[in-house]
Amino acid sequence: MNEVVDFINVNRDRYVDELKQYLAIPSISALPQHTGDVRRAAEWTGESLRTAGMQNVRLIDTPGNPVVYGDWLGAPGKPTILFYGHYDVQPVDPLDLWTTPPFEASVRDGEIYARGAADDKGQVFMHIKAIEACIRKTGGLPVNMKFFIEGEEEVGSVHLDEFVRAHKQDLAADVVVISDSPMFDRGIPSICYGLRGLVYFQIDLRGTRSDLHSGSFGGAVANPAFVLAQVLAQMKDRGGRVKIPGFYDDVRPLSDSERAEWKKLPFNETRYRKELGAPRLFGEKGYSTLERVWARPTFEVNGLLSGFTGEGAKTVLPAVAMAKVSMRLVPDQHPDTIAGLFETYVKKTCPPTVEVKVTRMHGGKPWMTEFDNKYVRAAGRAIEKGFGRAPVFNREGGSIPVVSTFQEELGVPSVLFGVGLPDENAHAPNEKLDLGNFHNGIIASAYLYQEIAELT
Ligand code: BES
Ligand code: ZN
Repeated sequence: MNEVVDFINVNRDRYVDELKQYLAIPSISALPQHTGDVRRAAEWTGESLRTAGMQNVRLIDTPGNPVVYGDWLGAPGKPTILFYGHYDVQPVDPLDLWTTPPFEASVRDGEIYARGAADDKGQVFMHIKAIEACIRKTGGLPVNMKFFIEGEEEVGSVHLDEFVRAHKQDLAADVVVISDSPMFDRGIPSICYGLRGLVYFQIDLRGTRSDLHSGSFGGAVANPAFVLAQVLAQMKDRGGRVKIPGFYDDVRPLSDSERAEWKKLPFNETRYRKELGAPRLFGEKGYSTLERVWARPTFEVNGLLSGFTGEGAKTVLPAVAMAKVSMRLVPDQHPDTIAGLFETYVKKTCPPTVEVKVTRMHGGKPWMTEFDNKYVRAAGRAIEKGFGRAPVFNREGGSIPVVSTFQEELGVPSVLFGVGLPDENAHAPNEKLDLGNFHNGIIASAYLYQEIAELT
């Protein structure tokens, strides 16, 4: 391994230069005008896998964006790793809040800033470079490896369940490795054993055929903006509890042992609050912040639109109001069940004075796993070698829809070893990746393949 690590150290700057090219491709899966860029990012991913020495590299079409596949199967008798990640990124607005342009990666204070730096191109590239170093210096990999990089994660991986089911044989492996999550904190690497699920909706209300003079008509018809506020206000009580009937029925309670483990984590609530710039933290009564984010479901408003929002004042009754809302789910809630409960509740709480349309968008199932297995232990050793410190075990509040599908369809464990940071600004302006973590992550990844190869 020494020559592999030396190679990684020597090539540190080259990796950053190459990553900048990857980050320059605006592969925003949510926006149709970027379909060509998304494809370009797929091709770039494939090309860098080829350069790294992977074989059978190809783009596989799906009804949506292509999947990038590549493998190296030259270690008969050794375990097979399926590495999953995504090359698509989130939209960049509000653009004016970026210090440097989102698709012109810029390095400041040891961090690389660009959309996709942490989520997830930087972390995918980290594994590609680890592979490259192993193949260059040792002529091959210690394990068998399959790369499976998709382009629709940020829009809910809608075509992926079907894809995984149809390609079960091709994707067969002993363990899934994913790097698409933050570490617990700066200097504290972690292995994530649970993710929340998601169900996302758009609510459209219409009050009248057209906007109206609020003097001539105000008081005679319902105002959809106001009705929307009332409907949304019915979703949660003041103690942060979701009021949709049946919402908590399938929630798996947090175990005493998990709760005790999380209490031991070096989490500083005051620092967390200050970094967020929040006057106070707020969440469901009876739970700590980590418990709220990792183990409890929530209802959130993602966006609101109605009426006049320009400068000055305009006396108008808006004709329509729209909200984007989503619920984060925990085991054993099911997106379909929760979607049904939500739709029923909106129809019940919304008065007949407006027309209501509820549109379901993407989502994903929650995931949680037993993490006392040899692969996780191997990852722990590898992370310790790369980062100089053993990882802690955490859950996360975010979602990666395909992870539960891997569990159900492939029946193998997943190891989530992410090198982002809680302040990485994923999905927000000024997304960044710490280059020290990127570098250590390449080394840890190379050790991970070695550690898994040595398992019996
Ligand atoms: N990398 C995130 C998932 C993540 C976020 C894991 C935070 C752990 C902590 C991923 O790219 C993502 O953003 N997923 C979406 C999925 C959704 C669109 C179905 C999410 O969580 O919003
Ligand atoms: Zn994301």
